[in-house]
Amino acid sequence: MLRSPLPGDPPPPPGLGLLITAPDAPATPDHGWWRDAVIYQVYVRSFQDSDGDGIGDLAGVRTRLPYLKRLGVDGVWLNPFYVSPQHDHGYDVADYCAVDPLYGTLDDFDDLVEDCRLLGLKLILDIVPNHCSSEHPWFRAALAGAPGSPERAPFHFADGRGEHGELPPNNWRAMFGGPAWSRVRESDGSWGQWYLHLFTPEQPDLNWRDPAVAAEFERVLRFWLDRGADGFRIDVAAGLYKHPELPDSPDPEADERTRDSVNPLAWNQPEVHDVWRHWRAICEEYTARDGRDRLLVGEASVPTPAEQAAYVRPDELHQAFFFHLLHAPWDAAHFHRVIDEAVQDIAATGSTVTWVLNNHDQVRTTTRFAAADELSGGVRARAAALLMLALPGAAYLYQGEELGLPEVDDLPDHLITDPIFQRTGSRVGIRDGCRIPLPWSGLESPFGFSPAGAKEPWLPQPAHFAAHTAERVLADTGSAWHLYRDALHLRRVLPQLGEGTLRWLDTPPGVLAFVRGEGLLCAVNFGDGPALAPVDGEPLLASGPCPPGILPAGTTAWWARDGRSF
Ligand code: NOJ
Repeated sequence: MLRSPLPGDPPPPPGLGLLITAPDAPATPDHGWWRDAVIYQVYVRSFQDSDGDGIGDLAGVRTRLPYLKRLGVDGVWLNPFYVSPQHDHGYDVADYCAVDPLYGTLDDFDDLVEDCRLLGLKLILDIVPNHCSSEHPWFRAALAGAPGSPERAPFHFADGRGEHGELPPNNWRAMFGGPAWSRVRESDGSWGQWYLHLFTPEQPDLNWRDPAVAAEFERVLRFWLDRGADGFRIDVAAGLYKHPELPDSPDPEADERTRDSVNPLAWNQPEVHDVWRHWRAICEEYTARDGRDRLLVGEASVPTPAEQAAYVRPDELHQAFFFHLLHAPWDAAHFHRVIDEAVQDIAATGSTVTWVLNNHDQVRTTTRFAAADELSGGVRARAAALLMLALPGAAYLYQGEELGLPEVDDLPDHLITDPIFQRTGSRVGIRDGCRIPLPWSGLESPFGFSPAGAKEPWLPQPAHFAAHTAERVLADTGSAWHLYRDALHLRRVLPQLGEGTLRWLDTPPGVLAFVRGEGLLCAVNFGDGPALAPVDGEPLLASGPCPPGILPAGTTAWWARDGRSF
């Protein structure tokens, strides 16, 4: 049974657009707020369109902050909204200190900061230091400059191999398909050097061995911190440095094949840790001024939890997404193993684990965890979310998971915008399906995403999104939305949740159960049939109907005991 409302709940606000009038003032000082925070990821392009161009924008985000406050998250991470030709939807930045007109203006950003402050929501920006856009002024200057010139120093330019330099400098392949090198025409029109791009040719990799690059990013960080950002999600945080000699890789297709950063010569080089130490020092400088912790959360995709732990040492990043949970199949033993590794390896650094199940690059859990029948995916996604929210540490939610949105995997080829599809011609790993504009209300597209009379949403919303509008799920107390909200509320009021320890209980195969702080028990049934519940009594919260004594298939439940241990 789902418990709603919960003791101590404020009366439910009447409408989606309601402004909360009694904001939680941010506590000052707020050291360590991030250690067990739940942050909501806003893919700006697909969140809320305020001006009718079919593309979400900052002013749109602002109108929906009360919705996020009501859900109960601690903060918001915004995907990149900077000036960009949008070859990779903003992960190709041409001006790091300006808002792309598609998404609004710096004034819109300032207004957003102010509203976040009023509502007590942290605001985390996305920073992209591994590469910029081929339209960035630095890259334009590099193209105009001569081989070996200072203008080329911020990038990896190299002479080609072969008699006439017609072969790339090494055998690396790009993550999004094709060679990781493109050849340029020199100013006299002749074929010239090659430049490195681990993603698309429109995203030249920056050379962090050039001190100008570090200095420029320090300027960018300070620009946004001075404007009120509470921290940064760092794109490709295991990148930045490449092996200094750029040697051939023994398995050149590994990155492209796995769509992951696994080439040991291109990623996870030791020098990158100095960058994070420096960025941490910058954050601490701001904290020293006003007592407010600034947050650095890294997209540090590295092979093992132990290697990831190195990124969250006390003087480096505060958090790094724990992708091993996100990559776990729906399997009790697998979940058990990765949770254990995370808790041991990450906790040993003094940091907390940063759990994540969904983001803008992954197939949504509702589809990823589906067995033969579609329904099981939605059921399991809810169970996985409730499991994640019981784990010790911080968590990130991706927009739409609280609406139970499924992946849209039937977009016609001509509407696919992901550069992976353009570069590989294959649908494997394409990301448009989790980036469809959100359905807010009504029975047909644009479902309140855009105002009346607007252009079509930039990606089409399927008719079945009508069952997932915010309006509809808010009205249904048995919906995913209420589950997330109840879980987030309990995280605030129950001391056992959030940061702390975890103790596993003995369970039959296919079932996991653990105790948090002795007074809270979480159990998950990964199996296809019902299991016996590990304790008697009605659960405090469950991801689906849960009769006393039974833990149905694909269900997570929490039980609480006052002052007594399980
Ligand atoms: C990771 C981001 O999450 C993804 O969306 C982007 O395409 C790549 N980094 C390249 O910036």
